[in-house]
Amino acid sequence: MTEVPVICIDGPSGAGKGTIAHMLAEKLGWHLLDSGSLYRVTAFACQHDGVGLEDENKVAEVARHLDVRFEQAPSGEVLVYYRDVDASRAIRTEEGGRGASTVGAMPSVREALLQRQRDFAEPPGLVADGRDMGTVVFPDAPLKFFLTASAEERAQRRYKQLIDKGESVSLPRLLRDIEERDERDSSRSVSPLLPADDAIVIDSTATPIDAVFAKVMADVTTRFGT
Ligand code: DC
Repeated sequence: MTEVPVICIDGPSGAGKGTIAHMLAEKLGWHLLDSGSLYRVTAFACQHDGVGLEDENKVAEVARHLDVRFEQAPSGEVLVYYRDVDASRAIRTEEGGRGASTVGAMPSVREALLQRQRDFAEPPGLVADGRDMGTVVFPDAPLKFFLTASAEERAQRRYKQLIDKGESVSLPRLLRDIEERDERDSSRSVSPLLPADDAIVIDSTATPIDAVFAKVMADVTTRFGT
């Protein structure tokens, strides 16, 4: 099997991972794995199929047989289908994020989604966005980043995104949700949210996204010479 190069971008929600991963995949012409969407679709599928999130065995069964499809719309937006249901919007809500974090804390669900994530590594390369890309899913990846930002800054960014979308939200509530999610993602027994030993840690609290991307590209160029 030829080695497909993988670049991992891990970190908590709202640190800018998704944006950086998209920019990088586009720039390099590589595939993109948004691993959070698999956890989000698993939670969506449970709700759709009437499976309660308190029954880990049943949730893992849903994850094992997850009929998910990603499709790029002409606008560039990635549409996510569960069976033939367009779940793109529903999985991106705050509730969708909470559901994903709950199913992500279940060891058998993580196990069920492991190979599916690895299957995204296809030539010419993969940019993998998540929490445990560098520690568990692609431990041998040649380049790993861990992007962070303070919880306050991440709540502010999320607040602005939701207000721009016309949703009414409360900033203190968002901050509380982010802190709760960080706590759940960091304290779980399997694949807790932690930088890999060999990850390059970037704190984006006071750094605009373009400057973060420039730093990432500089490291990519050093590593791959592209
Ligand atoms: O990256 P995101 O916000 O879409 O992730 C949503 C939730 O999914 C996150 O709170 C925890 C879970 N998740 C995970 O456990 N492991 C991943 N690799 C990605 C996401």
